[in-house]
Amino acid sequence: MCPPAAAACAALAALLCGRLVAVAGGLSLNNRPVIGILAQENLEGDITAEGSSYIAASYVKYLEGAGARVVPVRINRTNEEYVEIFNSINGLLLPGGDVDLQKSQFSKVAKIFYDLAIKANDASDYFPIWGTCQGLQQLTVLTSNKNLLTLTDTKAVALPLMFAQGAQNSRLFKSFPKDLLHSLAVENITSNFHSWSLSLQNYSRNAKLKRFYRVLTTNSDGKKEFVSTVEAYRYPFYAVQWHPEKSPFEWVDKPGMIHSVTAVRASFYTASFFISEAMKSQHRFSSPSVEEKALIYNYSPVYKGLYSIFIQNYYFS
Ligand SMILES: *[C@@H]1O[C@H](CO)[C@@H](O)[C@H](O)[C@H]1NC(C)=O
Ligand SMILES: *[C@@H]1O[C@H](CO)[C@@H](O)[C@H](O)[C@H]1NC(C)=O
Ligand SMILES: *[C@@H]1O[C@H](CO)[C@@H](O)[C@H](O)[C@H]1NC(C)=O
Repeated sequence: MCPPAAAACAALAALLCGRLVAVAGGLSLNNRPVIGILAQENLEGDITAEGSSYIAASYVKYLEGAGARVVPVRINRTNEEYVEIFNSINGLLLPGGDVDLQKSQFSKVAKIFYDLAIKANDASDYFPIWGTCQGLQQLTVLTSNKNLLTLTDTKAVALPLMFAQGAQNSRLFKSFPKDLLHSLAVENITSNFHSWSLSLQNYSRNAKLKRFYRVLTTNSDGKKEFVSTVEAYRYPFYAVQWHPEKSPFEWVDKPGMIHSVTAVRASFYTASFFISEAMKSQHRFSSPSVEEKALIYNYSPVYKGLYSIFIQNYYFS
């Protein structure tokens, strides 16, 4: 039964309907998610000319391309500042890189956010974390309180994922199109650029890791089988040893760099999944002006050259 103002009625119905969809699962989705990306020490560049820490721009584009805005989480800040950022953002990405996983500022800040995220999720305050390459390694160190990594021959190679039993129905992979899961299993489209890996052996022998993470995929360098995709059982924490952000956004001419349609699609689906998790977080900045000052748009990426390992970086002093 519609009153004369049919347009208003339809609008109301759409509103109610939208709300019903949004609250399914008890949460109204946050369609303006903001993700923090953790910066790390600038170990190879010129600290004076560039800045003492950096974020590779490919991670920023990767998240932006799936519907999020990005806030840099800088190292060497105060604990109060980190708590404030944590309560303002909807997820955290721990990127790849090459810092010490137990002594660096990167690892210290990662621990602060990891502990905050555990506490928040335990209190039903949904907060997802994504780790890529070093980010996966850092998460395993944080969970086990140990560095259990081992050297593998995986410095510049593209590999197909070896799916564990039932992994295609995991939270992470179940949203992927079936043909894409097939591509990931049979094509060499995941970029590996790492010297260190968590072997399946060390994962299986460590009770903390085994209880915390479900192994979704593994890979092998021909000698050692290592963990390549995980999701936590009880927390919205996800990690990949491979580099989904490289396929669409990095162009260094090296073996292991794959720009095929399937590789780029796989990249998008990982980011889209993580952003859909971040949409379940209700954190927000204390005001629009505080939010505006925090966003990455306040910084300009520096072009490093088409054949640099990172084509553009954000630097922070
Ligand atoms: C961080 O702080 C430490 C100690 O205060 C200092 O030695 C280091 O240079 C700083 N690093 C960066 C990247 O700012
Ligand atoms: C297991 O972890 C230790 C470090 O605690 C490391 O030295 C060793 O190489 C690892 N072994 C395997 C098979 O990954
Ligand atoms: C493709 O992956 C397999 C491992 O499944 C590996 O043996 C092979 O070297 C890879 N090929 C290329 C061209 O990287």
